[in-house]
Amino acid sequence: MSQLPTVDEITALHRAYAPTREAFEKVHTHCGIVWRIAEQLLAGPGGAGVDGDLVRVGCLLHDIGVYRLYDDEGRLDRANYVRHGLLGAEIVSKEGLPESLGRFCSCHTGVGLTRHDVLSQDLPIPVGDYVAETAEERLVMYADKFHSKSTPPRFVTSATFAVKVQRFGEEKVVVFGELAEEFGEPVLEPLAAEYGHRIT
Ligand SMILES: [Fe+2]
Repeated sequence: MSQLPTVDEITALHRAYAPTREAFEKVHTHCGIVWRIAEQLLAGPGGAGVDGDLVRVGCLLHDIGVYRLYDDEGRLDRANYVRHGLLGAEIVSKEGLPESLGRFCSCHTGVGLTRHDVLSQDLPIPVGDYVAETAEERLVMYADKFHSKSTPPRFVTSATFAVKVQRFGEEKVVVFGELAEEFGEPVLEPLAAEYGHRIT
């Protein structure tokens, strides 16, 4: 693959696409936190053989498409939120970055969106499978589940996430459990203290 963008280059992309300072702070901070969580998981047994440089880039880029969902008043279009992955992949492609990096955006929602999910939930994205495949893609998707850009932002325990994802089907809980088995559980308390975000 071609050379990976640097952390500074990715931050510059966030600044370029963020419609407001608030949006930048929210999304960019979240991406950094997801990297901190992933970094922890990479150090565990599930991180053996996983490309940490690629995971870092994936974490820092994964939500770049969220910026495209803000209107001129800085309001987020929640009804179309599920589109942020695809919108991010579009930005990655437009910026001349490899398609493999766009997949960190398009394939990180929930524990993966399948064609069946798109149809059964009538999601506003083209029918298809948006499922993390490589270990790096799966790790980014999994690490993302432990922090939320809600107002105020918060860390999310695996128990809380399991309850949340259950409404999309018992099979989603199973997939999440498999990811937890593969990559282990992050320790959220030090990060929560560092960032001043509560754990729910
Ligand atoms: Fe995210």
